[in-house]
Amino acid sequence: SDAYAVIGNPIGHTKSPLIHGLFAEATGQDMVYTAIEGRIGQFAADMDKFRAAGGRGMNVTAPFKLDAFACATEHSQRAQMAGAVNALRFDGERVIAENFDGVGLARDVVHNLGHPLKGKRVLVLGAGGAARGALLPFLAEGPAGLVIANRTVSTAEALAEAASAHGRVVACGYSDLEGLEFDLVFNATSASLRGELPPVPATVFAPGALAYDLAYGKGLTPFLRLAQQAGTKQLADGVGMLVEQAAEAFAWWRGVRPDTRAVIDLLTVPLV
Ligand code: ATR
Repeated sequence: SDAYAVIGNPIGHTKSPLIHGLFAEATGQDMVYTAIEGRIGQFAADMDKFRAAGGRGMNVTAPFKLDAFACATEHSQRAQMAGAVNALRFDGERVIAENFDGVGLARDVVHNLGHPLKGKRVLVLGAGGAARGALLPFLAEGPAGLVIANRTVSTAEALAEAASAHGRVVACGYSDLEGLEFDLVFNATSASLRGELPPVPATVFAPGALAYDLAYGKGLTPFLRLAQQAGTKQLADGVGMLVEQAAEAFAWWRGVRPDTRAVIDLLTVPLV
């Protein structure tokens, strides 16, 4: 059977072996998917070891997404734009890099949560790797406008500039959001991982808005709590994004797209 793995450090809490195991079972694919604790500063060696042992592909998670970018021999446009890699495919000497985080997020929002981005006012908080990955997939959906707010405004400006060929993106700081409303608000900062709240005004949530925190398994984060207190009914965390990016990678590797609904339901933890 074909071997795949997720590599990260730490890697103990990864759900990827479970998700891909369920996909393989459901689609009848003969494969094994394991978790590897990569060594800091040794990504290339760890990747090559897995490859030499017959590995066909890897998912890459923190802190190796930039190392994987550097080790790849080919990059998709999405990986290029994100400047980071979350999936690799090995084909002889070729190491092909992809990034399915953003496309998985867009798919979750549009198909699973039923919030088309087309014609909508979209706000992305943060301008790090997670925000970068979401830009192209979001712009491809044709929003009315896309605003990126970040503490460090220059980082948001650089991101908006990099994406400018694909659509209109406006960069700003958090205080510039006073008086503005959005239909979809994404927290792509790493603040939730530390229980922190990005300094976003509670008035950004339009009536009927969706508030989406890209973090997974953190329950009702300070960001989601703010949205709820502002009257937002539609709250989501990153579980759907996690499963959808996995499904994209699985389809890329195996040529068959698994159903995601049952796996999302299995991994969903109530937001309380
Ligand atoms: P990731 O890959 O998870 O996106 P990253 O590339 O380190 O991580 O980016 C972290 C993002 O979260 C940045 O946009 C950061 O803002 P700055 O660029 O101004 O540093 C943002 N961030 C982290 N903690 C935050 C907090 N408490 N409030 C607001 N933004 C925060």
